Amino acid sequence: MASFNGLRENINKGKYPRLGAGSGRVVFDLKNGYVIKAAKNKKGIAQNKAECAIAKNDQSSMFAKIIDVSEDYHFVIMEKADHVRSISEVWRYYEVRNNRELASLESFQKICTKHDLLMSDLYRRMNWGIVKGKPVIIDYGFTKETKKLY
Ligand SMILES: Nc1ncnc2c1ncn2[C@@H]1O[C@H](COP(=O)(O)OP(=O)(O)O)[C@@H](O)[C@H]1O
Ligand SMILES: [Mg+2]
Repeated sequence: MASFNGLRENINKGKYPRLGAGSGRVVFDLKNGYVIKAAKNKKGIAQNKAECAIAKNDQSSMFAKIIDVSEDYHFVIMEKADHVRSISEVWRYYEVRNNRELASLESFQKICTKHDLLMSDLYRRMNWGIVKGKPVIIDYGFTKETKKLY
């Protein structure tokens, strides 16, 4: 496991560029091909937990990989992804023309059922990133379960 105390210190010192934030987490660039997602609140902890559970059970390779997590789920370390400028980049990769066609793909139905995700969350470019030329889902902590709770 990484030294999360050391990483926390570096974050506080402003050593890692801030890539973005959502309602539950702040994300920093570790500048080694990975990002660290730091929970801001209870919701962020729940999202980190949900992402770890999905990453652990995933066989689809449609999700950005998680390589480490702190014991308290305050931090997860994930592959760094490049920006997706338009959802059409995802469509092009999966050879579909729109979100309706994306939703009809077996691979998408499978991951949504298996991991309790809402298909409509996968229509938004913000939830996607590019890793090694391939679109992958980068924000997948928002399962129906965490949505219900927060
Ligand atoms: N794996 C990643 N690689 C690069 N940037 C990321 C990655 N994960 C998240 N980000 C950036 O951080 C922002 C917030 O992360 P996100 O997972 O959406 O947090 P939240 O669950 O709080 O919405 C994203 O909108 C994106 O800009
Ligand atoms: Mg988000």
